[in-house]
Amino acid sequence: MNQNTSLEIRDCTALGSEICRELCDGLMQYQASMAKEESHRKILGSMCYDNRLKPSFESTQEKLLLVAFDGERPVGYMYAAASLVTQEDKNWRPSWGKDIPGEVQGFYPDWLPTPVKIGSLNNLFVLPQYRGQKIGLELAQRGMDWLRQLPEVSYLFVDVSEGNNAAQFYSRFGFQHSHSVLGGLIEAYYIKL
Ligand SMILES: CC(C)(COP(=O)(O)OP(=O)(O)OC[C@H]1O[C@@H](n2cnc3c(N)ncnc32)[C@H](O)[C@@H]1OP(=O)(O)O)[C@@H](O)C(=O)NCCC(=O)NCCS
Repeated sequence: MNQNTSLEIRDCTALGSEICRELCDGLMQYQASMAKEESHRKILGSMCYDNRLKPSFESTQEKLLLVAFDGERPVGYMYAAASLVTQEDKNWRPSWGKDIPGEVQGFYPDWLPTPVKIGSLNNLFVLPQYRGQKIGLELAQRGMDWLRQLPEVSYLFVDVSEGNNAAQFYSRFGFQHSHSVLGGLIEAYYIKL
């Protein structure tokens, strides 16, 4: 990170995810605003802290929540999690995904062998006025380092919603395209460990 001495990244996993409520809502709104298709904008716009980060955080055992602070103000965060993916998970579609016409892949690609333990970089967000100070890079790097040292994790995944240009950001870590999720709502990228 740059030489702004009031900036600091802290591991907040033990504190719970509530501290990231506003940041998560900001990320979800940003993602919705970038979507090209109206139907996708609607789906992404319905996502928020209460139906995304909170339930995921509370139902996951192996997780890391890093928060960037400016003094005591949260200004960015990254949520990483490890989980076992089964064939059932691969076939699962959310209720809103069932109306998408044609054969669409879900959150995990058809090519993924199951059961398999994967690590996900789930949320990465820095407030606009704090961008360009390497906070995002450090959050992502520390999340990746943590996921890589977990036992039995075979793949890393990251999701980028439609219209977001963050794929270029992730490609510097070695992520490559995996598949289109639910007809292009999200593009998934992966690294095989
Ligand atoms: C993506 C994001 C987290 C990056 O945070 P940041 O603190 O501004 O990034 P950094 O300062 O660490 O940037 C590091 C490098 O990545 C580049 N970069 C940053 N955001 C980028 C993006 N969206 N696409 C491509 N490159 C990007 C920077 O230009 C910089 O490049 P350099 O090292 O050549 O100078 C931030 O822009 C953000 O919150 N975006 C909105 C939410 C989002 O897209 N999240 C990721 C998808 S879930």
